[in-house]
Amino acid sequence: MLKKMKADSYFIQINNFVLGLLILYLFCFTKINAQSAFNVNKQLNYCIQQVNKTVAANNSIGDINIPRSIDNNAKVWKYVDYKDWTSGFWPGILWYAYQFSHDNQFKIQAAKFSNELIPLAYSPAYDHDLGFQINCSIGNGFRLTQNKNYKKILLAAADTLATLFNPKVGTILSWPREVQSLGGHNTIMDNMMNLELLFWASKNGGNKQLYNIAVKHANTTMKNHFRKDFSGYHVVVYDSITGKKIKGITHQGYSDASMWARGQSWAIYGFTMCYRETHNPVFLDFAQKVAGIYLKRLPKDMIPYWDFDDKSIPNAPKDVSAAAVTASALLELSTFMTDKTKQEYYKSKAVSMLKEISTPKYQSCEVNNAILLHSTGHKPHNSEVDASINYADFYYMEALLRLKNMGL
Ligand code: GLY
Repeated sequence: MLKKMKADSYFIQINNFVLGLLILYLFCFTKINAQSAFNVNKQLNYCIQQVNKTVAANNSIGDINIPRSIDNNAKVWKYVDYKDWTSGFWPGILWYAYQFSHDNQFKIQAAKFSNELIPLAYSPAYDHDLGFQINCSIGNGFRLTQNKNYKKILLAAADTLATLFNPKVGTILSWPREVQSLGGHNTIMDNMMNLELLFWASKNGGNKQLYNIAVKHANTTMKNHFRKDFSGYHVVVYDSITGKKIKGITHQGYSDASMWARGQSWAIYGFTMCYRETHNPVFLDFAQKVAGIYLKRLPKDMIPYWDFDDKSIPNAPKDVSAAAVTASALLELSTFMTDKTKQEYYKSKAVSMLKEISTPKYQSCEVNNAILLHSTGHKPHNSEVDASINYADFYYMEALLRLKNMGL
């Protein structure tokens, strides 16, 4: 009798073990399937199709030939010249199209538009956007071609950008033209993105001091640009002489106290990049903190409203550009996680964002020639609200290529 009971108990234990294995298998299978259901190549081919449409329907006038944005309900791109802050994104998109397709026509176009930006590297710095302009265009060009001339331009641009650094404050002056109106040395969150050019130059034959400038800027921003919950101010104003922080305010957000979506995305991307370049765990920890508040406050569909604190939510416009920047950043962040659960967490959040962006709700398809709809540029100025904007397309393609390179 005792023997039979023992045998029964073993039988039940084995059964439970098999059942457990089955549940684990189903759980993993569903998870893997959910991720692999996203076809990266299909989305990149869609991007190529839209880029080809933009190239073919060239409505530019003379030097004003860089497609920047398409207003809600409009059909055609608004074009800008090489001085515009977004001028690097179109050549960047063309470089990404070349990277994916290996089509030489894209390489020719990418080089043509990148070359237009060269004077920026050798002129006095207008503002911090020089980093976006040169790194997204010529930076990607160099990465893909190893063209020595591009390297020279990148090094020159990094030196030009560094002229805006104020050692007393410990940051780059983002907008020299706004010193008077804002009441001092100003640094905006977006500026975090442009440290990448300085890091790159310091490691590729440029002045080693550029590395220290980038690290100092990141540390000063970490100290002054965030509230207790790790949401960021868009702008921090400092006393140019003493270096003391005067105030944290907004420029493109809903209010001084709000979390402007794209600003937070720049922070997630910027601190992740700082960890990549320095291996300083403080930056890795901080990137997770600024990502944490963003992820916690996202709406269900993973695409933020243009500002997390707009009182008119859910009737406020979305900002897909912030979602694209964040997706790209989280993919990189996931690669730095030694903990498998965290790695999977950031990767799956990024994939969920990309899946949603890749639906007909957000892809332009036949609506216009851009890749994506529903980004918001400058809501307080009522400019590019719920529009197609080139930087959303750029970071979407970047995120897709990152995902592809991760082998998912
Ligand atoms: N860098 C300006 C913006 O994010 O709109």
